[in-house]
Amino acid sequence: MPSAFDEIRIGRHTARNRVVMAPMTRSRAYGPGASPTELMARYYGQRAGAGLIITEGTQPSAVGQGYLNTPGLHTATQVEAWKPVTAAVHERGGLIFAQLMHSGRIGHPSLHGATPVGASPVAAAGTVFTAEGPQDLVTPEPLDEDGIRATIADFTAAARNAIEAGFDGVELHSANGYLLHQFLSTNANLRTDGWGGTVEGRIRLTVEVTKAVAAAIGADRLGVRISPSNPFNDITEDGHRETYLALVDALNPLGLAYLHVAEGPDTEFTPRLRERWSGTLILNPYTPGAWTGPEALKAVENGEADAVSYGALFLANPDLPERLAAGGPFQQPDYAKAYGGDHSGYTDYPALADA
Ligand SMILES: Cc1cc2nc3c(=O)[nH]c(=O)nc-3n(C[C@H](O)[C@H](O)[C@H](O)COP(=O)(O)O)c2cc1C
Repeated sequence: MPSAFDEIRIGRHTARNRVVMAPMTRSRAYGPGASPTELMARYYGQRAGAGLIITEGTQPSAVGQGYLNTPGLHTATQVEAWKPVTAAVHERGGLIFAQLMHSGRIGHPSLHGATPVGASPVAAAGTVFTAEGPQDLVTPEPLDEDGIRATIADFTAAARNAIEAGFDGVELHSANGYLLHQFLSTNANLRTDGWGGTVEGRIRLTVEVTKAVAAAIGADRLGVRISPSNPFNDITEDGHRETYLALVDALNPLGLAYLHVAEGPDTEFTPRLRERWSGTLILNPYTPGAWTGPEALKAVENGEADAVSYGALFLANPDLPERLAAGGPFQQPDYAKAYGGDHSGYTDYPALADA
């Protein structure tokens, strides 16, 4: 029976344990042109005891930015600024993947001066926080064929940039209602061309981006995050089981480093995905109204997943694997300081060893 504290192969790498830091946007990329800072290097370095760190969502292009002060990986300045971050994690023996997140219709022109893009001209219900305060989400400009090709090229270039910046790999964000998930959905994607209309059409953008990035950096340095049945960001997925089984079937032959499942309300579907997926599976369990807790590690022991990812608890416990091994105690996150701000609620959560 494997333990969450056993090593595991993740693509070409060996992770020292199966406790993964889930991607979390923290909106503190105050460096020039949406680039990371020394403070971010400190934050990620503190969490290097994770088997694998997956960074906050990072835009592969200017128009892919959905929130204030999120970092990018599409300029030379950003690549340079990420280097101290990856170095801080490597100095402490950790592994770090960059999450490439194109926010699609979840965004606002005030963030980058352009109309956000999407699958179809359908605005998501809701608001987005901008420098001028909360604003309604706008109707996105649907991507045409050239726009889709350019978007795939942006993901590929950003993945190459990630490797140049010292990342061990990349995770594609095809979850939580952002661009790739918008294409998978049945309400944000109303296309009737080859990029929508059918299951094959809706999964195509995720599949094509995955193939292109795998060709650029190696499938064994690439993971994909999905969130079947998760309605976050105004997503509807009619027939989600059929969609995600088809997606997994299309991704299986590529030999990816992992599939990261941000579990949605349809928890009974997870074992079917597990069965169907031929590679490593990282599970972020569905825990409505609570953060993922220590009991989630059972998923590794009973074979439901190969590794478990933690968001909020990693935010508040830089040495989370040690605390899980010791049975606690666990500090609770100050959610008011999740997005933006300074070191407070970011790098000042002490490790047990500091106490
Ligand atoms: C502050 C915060 C920011 C997040 N940002 C992202 C993100 O950038 N990309 C992503 O895929 N998920 C993001 N998530 C979702 C987490 O990765 C995770 O799925 C969620 O928090 C549930 O896991 P938990 O209960 O362990 O926190 C975020 C969550 C939090 C709390």
